[in-house]
Amino acid sequence: MEPAGPHDRARGLLPPAYYDFYAGGAGEERALTENERAFDRLALLPRVLRGAATRDTSVALLGDRLSFPVFVSPTAFHRLAHPEGELATARAVAAAGTVLTTGVAATCAVAEVAAAARKTDPGAALWFQLYLQPEHRVTAELAHRAEHAGCSALVVTVDSPVFGRHTRDLRNGFTDLPPGYAAQNMRGLPGGPPDEPRPIAMSPAQSWDDVRRLRDSSGLPLVLKGILHPEDARTAVAEGADAILVSNHGGRQLDAAPAALDALPAVAAAVAGRVPVLLDGGVRRGSDVAVALALGATAVGVGRPVLWGLAADGEDGVRDVLARLRDDFDHTLALCGGASPGDLTRDQVVPRRAPLTGAAPW
Ligand code: FNR
Repeated sequence: MEPAGPHDRARGLLPPAYYDFYAGGAGEERALTENERAFDRLALLPRVLRGAATRDTSVALLGDRLSFPVFVSPTAFHRLAHPEGELATARAVAAAGTVLTTGVAATCAVAEVAAAARKTDPGAALWFQLYLQPEHRVTAELAHRAEHAGCSALVVTVDSPVFGRHTRDLRNGFTDLPPGYAAQNMRGLPGGPPDEPRPIAMSPAQSWDDVRRLRDSSGLPLVLKGILHPEDARTAVAEGADAILVSNHGGRQLDAAPAALDALPAVAAAVAGRVPVLLDGGVRRGSDVAVALALGATAVGVGRPVLWGLAADGEDGVRDVLARLRDDFDHTLALCGGASPGDLTRDQVVPRRAPLTGAAPW
């Protein structure tokens, strides 16, 4: 029998309410389910006899070099998965030669996460995710701290004017962080309580004005996360976004949203190569990475697979998840006749005659 994968092991180890917090989505979990199914509906046409004797899986992105076209998307509260939380994740991601996005909902402060990553690799890159806070001075201070900690990009999540309604959390009564855990980046912010973190707020009034203000007050490249409509992608480019991350927030916001993968081609067409287009949601194997790249992404993010690795085996578990994904992508690239990620082209993606129903390994 196959040994249990990190997802099964995490399910067995985590308290059920924590597992559900990580695994669950909004509403009826249609957007969540669709993210993985969208990959199952597509197949890759390999190219042959292309003389690709050596392969290089790395990609350049926003001034960083990723050892393969996968970064780690922001997910909340890593200390629920493992006592070392984001510090363990940061070490593993740095060892894999790619980028971790830490953020406002991290249970370790950004400066500590950056130090952990740099201890493993002095050149390690780190991105910081935030939501536009109702008060600009709070958003600006978060951005300033991220810059000070040496982050190389700000990921601004724009798909969350209000909190998602997470069905499993509501059922489990899991609405607050358990005692002993805190969103450490929310401490000491302007207007907040002196000894406790400020609650993370959503801002229904958020608009392009807020993006412009942040752009003017921070020197960091801006990645706008959670764009699905091609017209928003066009506006984002016009407003100076440095990259667009096509995402339905792992199915945790609008349950009626399409799979991120299904929204990718129209966004990539609207952006027309002016800035990198990224995608997250449902990426579980090397061929998923390849399909997204062929459809126009420069790189893709993974969320839950990293949480499962962290819960199963801490830093080693995350290293293992990323190493397997990298190896699987490299193998897929070879079988598709590619020497580098840029060799994957749109004509190589075709529909499957019958959608698959098998579960993804993670
Ligand atoms: C998230 N995601 C998320 N996104 C964000 O911008 N800020 C956040 O704080 C969080 N928090 C968060 C917590 C948990 C438990 C999950 C599962 C997800 C969304 C995340 O960045 C990403 O969009 C999805 O997780 C990608 O989908 P997969 O890889 O999990 O399928």
